[in-house]
Amino acid sequence: MSESTNPGGPGKPGPMANLVAWIDERFPLTETYEYHMSKYWAPKNFNIWYVFGVLSMVVLVNQLLTGIWLTMSYVPSGDGAFASVEYIMRDVEYGWLLRYLHSTGASAFFVVVYLHMFRGMMYGSYRKPRELIWLIGMAIFLVLMAEGFLGYVLPWGQMSYWGAQVIVSLVGAVPFVGPDLMEWVRGDFLMSEITLNRFFALHVVALPLMLILLVFLHIVALHHVGSNNPDGIEIKKHKDENGRPLDSVAFHPYYTIGHDLPAIVAFLFIFCAVVFFAPEMGGYFLEPPNFQEANPLQTPEHIAPVWYFTPFYAMLRAATYPLLGIDAKFWGLVVMGVAVILPAALPWLDRSPVKSIRYKGAISKGMLAMLVVSFVMLGWLGTQPAGPVYEFLAQLGTAGYFAYFILMPWYTRVEKTKPVPERIPER
Ligand code: HEM
Repeated sequence: MSESTNPGGPGKPGPMANLVAWIDERFPLTETYEYHMSKYWAPKNFNIWYVFGVLSMVVLVNQLLTGIWLTMSYVPSGDGAFASVEYIMRDVEYGWLLRYLHSTGASAFFVVVYLHMFRGMMYGSYRKPRELIWLIGMAIFLVLMAEGFLGYVLPWGQMSYWGAQVIVSLVGAVPFVGPDLMEWVRGDFLMSEITLNRFFALHVVALPLMLILLVFLHIVALHHVGSNNPDGIEIKKHKDENGRPLDSVAFHPYYTIGHDLPAIVAFLFIFCAVVFFAPEMGGYFLEPPNFQEANPLQTPEHIAPVWYFTPFYAMLRAATYPLLGIDAKFWGLVVMGVAVILPAALPWLDRSPVKSIRYKGAISKGMLAMLVVSFVMLGWLGTQPAGPVYEFLAQLGTAGYFAYFILMPWYTRVEKTKPVPERIPER
């Protein structure tokens, strides 16, 4: 440190260093910073797929901040909810911006989280020793889905009301206890202000707290075992005399400045373009019926959830036959529920000797491609009104989705894989 910045003179610590030393004696500040940033040894071959974790964090912060400000003007009552959202849009200073940042943020969350999960599937990031990172991620995904659903109900528009009506009535299909369960969830005999109130409490307090806690645990687990990489090679197997993996770079500054920061800037450009020029995204982010106030006496012509739920919604509707004397609706619920949680089993379904898709065989590559095609097709079908062709395609897509997971123990064992290098190859 130069003399001018160090009033203590050469060799003496300055006030900043003194403060840090004071804190370090009482709290592991430097230790934590080094463990998670400047001495977190990350594989040197991260690619663009490794930016979606940090982008998920950016979106989470956006949702938390804009959510707090929206809550300041939102009224969670049957009479007030819709009007308060209109008030936010028209009268609250920059209220329109807050709302569009939040509603676009919800869709952005699912874009980045789906891509983040897909990266994990491609590179086998769920495999030993990262099973817990994956399972915590799955818990985040479930909470996120609940959070998205509950948030969509709050503006109390036609789609909020009827969408929630459809989803809540699904629990009514559970044999024996269905109707009682439905009443318990709603807190009333029909969707009402009481339901809105509890959804509000869960959306603004309970689930955000859970999300923050789970993301914290996700990162703790990740930094305990270390990151995977596109080659699926464990860098900790080859270390130098100081215990630093040979194929690594320090997370900070190499990935923070050289990798994540440009990605955040690029993301914010795209995100702002949507917020300012297409916040409704042609009805995919905010659906037209939701600009009309909830009316319990008038069902909208076509009820469909927001795009990020439509792949699972299509699977729900793909079950059209009653079985064992139980209604098709119940089986739809089972298919949808299993589809949502099935990825949690991946660490135990994948029996391949290699992690990354780069070294897996043709069947794994074909199956992953089929999963993507099925999921996108289901997503589109979920936005369309039901019909016979629709029904067949939805069943086909559901079969494609399930086949990826259920057949995995078989195809990952029989296929021929490529040899994985000991060290990360130079490319
Ligand atoms: C709010 C949502 C989430 C946040 C903020 C988040 C954050 C992160 C961050 C910052 C990383 C390290 C950087 C990176 O690898 O991209 C990471 C890694 C990881 N995440 Fe997430 N994540 C979220 C959701 C999920 C979900 C839903 C899953 C899967 C079900 C998941 C699975 C993983 C896995 C397996 C890794 C390790 C990847 C590797 O080392 O190759 N995450 N996450």
